[in-house]
Amino acid sequence: MASSLDLWIEYILRFSHLVAGISWIGSSFYFIWLDSSFLPPEKSRRNVEGEVFMVHGGFYYQVDKKKIFPGEIPKILHWFKWEATLTWITGFFLFAFLYYLKGASLLIDQQKVALSQGQAIGLSIGLVIGCWLLYDLIWNASIVKSKITSVILSLLGFVGLVYSSVQIFSGRGAFILVGVIMGSLMLLNVWVRILPGQAKMLREATAGQIPDYSVSLKSKIRSVHNTYFIFPVLFIMLSNHYPLIYNHHWNWILLIILSVSGALVRHAMVTKSANERWTLLPASVGLMALVFVTAHAPAVEKLNHTAVTALDSAQVRVIIDTRCVRCHATHNTDENFKVAGKNVILETEEQIRQHKDMMIKQVESKVMPLGNLTQMTDEERASLLDYLRKL
Ligand code: HEC
Repeated sequence: MASSLDLWIEYILRFSHLVAGISWIGSSFYFIWLDSSFLPPEKSRRNVEGEVFMVHGGFYYQVDKKKIFPGEIPKILHWFKWEATLTWITGFFLFAFLYYLKGASLLIDQQKVALSQGQAIGLSIGLVIGCWLLYDLIWNASIVKSKITSVILSLLGFVGLVYSSVQIFSGRGAFILVGVIMGSLMLLNVWVRILPGQAKMLREATAGQIPDYSVSLKSKIRSVHNTYFIFPVLFIMLSNHYPLIYNHHWNWILLIILSVSGALVRHAMVTKSANERWTLLPASVGLMALVFVTAHAPAVEKLNHTAVTALDSAQVRVIIDTRCVRCHATHNTDENFKVAGKNVILETEEQIRQHKDMMIKQVESKVMPLGNLTQMTDEERASLLDYLRKL
């Protein structure tokens, strides 16, 4: 019962996170497109700066881009803020459910820093808060005056965050944490910097004053940042399925190249000037560089050069029994993982054969045994891999 409840909680959180995320990103892409598609109105109308005509589902739609002045406030105004909020809430619960419970074993790597569960949780939450404070400071125009300085400081901060996270946490934990931090910055941008500015202008217009539209420009910067974060965050969320990336020797460089390439692709997507699409070139170079870097995985190569003992199935049984089975049995004996991880049970020859491709991926990238809690040696790894590859 407890085990199926676990699966259902994870499933429901994942599903809600996905649906909320699709609505958030969907509306965000729609507004990016809208913003870049406005043309000056054919017949000039008061306060209307641009108009767009669309056809969808058998009807025609006309959208005006305008400023609001006293006496012109619509009765119903749609805000688009719950998509972001729900995405964050479901995402944070999912993260906490998977990475904070069960001794935070997915977050901690004892070989890097022997954190306790409490320390890992505290440190990761501290990083979320610290990164927001720093980012918000860097983009406070009254403190850092030049935009280019803010861009450089943000990039340096990002590199520092990625590098230190992979030194402290497991590869997978570090990647997801960077994603959680970026997602949190996006949400805080919405609630702390974008919405209050818009609400202030609305209050001014309601009180019969001309709203201070310089506030709108400040909000716009944060909203633009959010669009740059989208691709890197999406990539990070998916990276979870690729142990060879998050556990690669150069994982922090891979994460930086992927994030910067994602942001450059976003730039090409949004820019109105065809000349600025040059950003696709470094993005493609970055992505090609990744193919080369990942083709050469030092950890895997080292294993390939480790002395291999040809094992028979009884010897393999002993390795799997001592290194894997406490978390991959019908009735696990591990104190944290009561249910076989990803339902992978490794008790019979048949099951090993069935899961061999996944086992190879997990063992060569050193993701399994999880956090090497069962202290598997390189010789055992190399010999097990040799056996599995021949199976
Ligand atoms: C301390 C517990 C633990 C040990 C020991 C352990 N695993 Fe796992 N394993 C897990 C957990 C937890 C998951 C599920 C991870 C997730 O949710 O993505 C998992 C997932 C897997 C998967 C599925 C991966 C996927 O993404 O679908 C494979 C294959 C696997 N383990 C193989 C092994 C092998 C082989 C060993 C021994 C060499 C081993 N594990 C040792 C906890 C463990």
